Amino acid sequence: MRKPIIAGNWKMNKTASEAAVLVDELIPAVKDASCEVVICTPYTDLVTAVAKTKGTNIHVGAENVHFEKSGAFTGEISADMLVDLGVEYVIVGHSERRQYFAETDQTVNKRALAALNAGLKVIICVGESLQQREEGVTEELVRMQTKIALRDVTAEQMANVVIAYEPVWAIGTGKTATAEQAQEIHAYIRTILREKFGAAADETPILYGGSCKPSNAPELFAKEDVDGGLIGGAALKAADFLAIGKGFPQK
Ligand code: PGA
Repeated sequence: MRKPIIAGNWKMNKTASEAAVLVDELIPAVKDASCEVVICTPYTDLVTAVAKTKGTNIHVGAENVHFEKSGAFTGEISADMLVDLGVEYVIVGHSERRQYFAETDQTVNKRALAALNAGLKVIICVGESLQQREEGVTEELVRMQTKIALRDVTAEQMANVVIAYEPVWAIGTGKTATAEQAQEIHAYIRTILREKFGAAADETPILYGGSCKPSNAPELFAKEDVDGGLIGGAALKAADFLAIGKGFPQK
């Protein structure tokens, strides 16, 4: 049985003082959630988020991590720095990182390995652009992104891996993949994981991301291989985030 997950991706939103307000709203809102609840916040909000969520059911994640352990990498944050703060999760390979910050499949893999080796749980993002979907290469693209991201990841480490399928054309656009489109690619990702990790692939949560909201979450989450959501805009409102978390059916 895979535990369902809702993971908020706050992106570049919320100052530390604004984060304190949102976390204070989230704590009572999600306290009875039956799913795993994760909030991935800007680096500057992590101390606040970790301190406030201590002893609650909310897990804190970062939105990126550098792959080197330490050294002359001005402006970067290492996995050890995150672990030392009490951070548990980190997103790697988000399409905005790939698009605006020259992230490649190779650097996604390096970041994932660094995070896993430091004991973090990683949420690895994959997904096609509109042009790639229209050209009919979604599966090839997702296969390449997934396989390269997981290069040298061990079967044991897979217990700390979450995959997020985020079609780029659905992120922040209000256009959601249909539940059928999501299920098709989620099932395909699971076959890729099975090729490498066998039956253990059935334990890996695969989240859907891209304009996930209270109104579409139940239909998406009802699909066999959709184990939850990576949620951007709707994670910035406690009521919406909670409502999405209530969208899990009994499977
Ligand atoms: P969105 O973002 O929910 O605002 O579309 C999702 C994401 O980019 O993780």
